[in-house]
Amino acid sequence: MPGPRVLLVVTGSIAAYKACEVVRRLQDRGVEVRVAMTRNAGEFVSPLTFAALSGHRVLVSSFDDERPERIPHVRWAEESDAFCVVPASADFIAKMALGIADDFSSTLHLAFAGPVLVAPAMEDQMWRHPAVRENVDKLSARGVVIVQPTAGPLASGRHGLGRLAEPPDVVDAIMEVLVTEPIERSLAGMRVLVSAGPTHEHFDPVRVLTNPSTGKMGYAVARAAARLGADVILVSGPTQIVEPAGVEIVRVVNAEEMRREMVDHTAAADIVVMAAAVSDFRPVAPVSEKLQKSAADAMSWEVERTPDILEELRRLGGRRTLVGFAAETSDLEARAREKLDRKGCDLMVANLVEAGVTGFEVDTNEVVILDRLGGRVPAGPAPKSDIAFTIIDAILGFRQRLGVASREKAG
Ligand SMILES: Cc1cc2nc3c(=O)[nH]c(=O)nc-3n(C[C@H](O)[C@H](O)[C@H](O)COP(=O)(O)O)c2cc1C
Repeated sequence: MPGPRVLLVVTGSIAAYKACEVVRRLQDRGVEVRVAMTRNAGEFVSPLTFAALSGHRVLVSSFDDERPERIPHVRWAEESDAFCVVPASADFIAKMALGIADDFSSTLHLAFAGPVLVAPAMEDQMWRHPAVRENVDKLSARGVVIVQPTAGPLASGRHGLGRLAEPPDVVDAIMEVLVTEPIERSLAGMRVLVSAGPTHEHFDPVRVLTNPSTGKMGYAVARAAARLGADVILVSGPTQIVEPAGVEIVRVVNAEEMRREMVDHTAAADIVVMAAAVSDFRPVAPVSEKLQKSAADAMSWEVERTPDILEELRRLGGRRTLVGFAAETSDLEARAREKLDRKGCDLMVANLVEAGVTGFEVDTNEVVILDRLGGRVPAGPAPKSDIAFTIIDAILGFRQRLGVASREKAG
């Protein structure tokens, strides 16, 4: 079966070069990509680059197509499954909001009837401008998926909100837009609480004890749960990734804050997924002023255990399903099964941490999902976005078997 087909519009932003990686990653996921560019985008990356990457001619003007007898914007629109603007300049967003069609890319936008996604990139000041805010709101109200820009260093050298979301996150969002088959809202009416990301345990205002978790797995679970119809709260440690649409985000920094938020929100939850990589230790006596490194050649810090959040959530009792994560570098299943028993949770998602392949800091994962009824579901290696759906399926399968088991016991 031919793969899905994406129209990728590249506009005049310094982040245009990142669209090259987006094209490659989409192809790796079986997507056929055709690129259209604004004339200004060509100031940043040559159309030749995208032609070579995509294997298709790149159109900038409506009037330089080799088959003008079949009107190019109509033909391209008919032959595509999604229209994605990566990166989207403030100017192109404004044109989309107003329906202006003064070049090939903007004309294509109006000729296209399917799902539309926009990944903006611009200076912080531009992103916050009321005109841009109004235009983005207008597109959102029209059902356009906005891949929120992230905070970080900008082209100007300043720091702020407006960086193009990282290419793997943009690709995940495009893949979601491409899912056209109706998704069964298997979590409708349910409340799902997810924790994600690392925690930062401060020694002083500029030094932290943490780990390399990016938060991607937890965010993927939150996004998948929202897509399946759940009300989702995501308690997130410090991360740099795109916030999932339709999810309530609670930001925390350290383990104690994460504990407090998780405990507060657990009572109302049907399913709790503790995917955060909470730091096991924290400094006993953090200081509020930056320590001067000239103060000593060597330093020792006393650290103490952070609260065991999973354990505390289990003690809260209730009929909710409690899911833990176990990242191990060896003896995966035995250790995860032991952790499942010791922590008394319902399911344990065990993942092997292999530098650069699965686990931390990468987009793929390979897991085994164990449950306390003896269930075992292996998944991956696969993108974390796919693994997230398998985890939810395993949770629902467990709840179903538990319901049957307790009915049998009662009967
Ligand atoms: C070096 C440089 C970088 C730029 N980066 C951005 C950007 O990231 N986002 C943006 O909206 N505009 C950016 N601009 C301004 C746009 O290129 C300009 O508004 C242009 O008219 C956009 O045209 P287009 O939307 O037709 O591609 C940049 C301009 C320059 C010179």
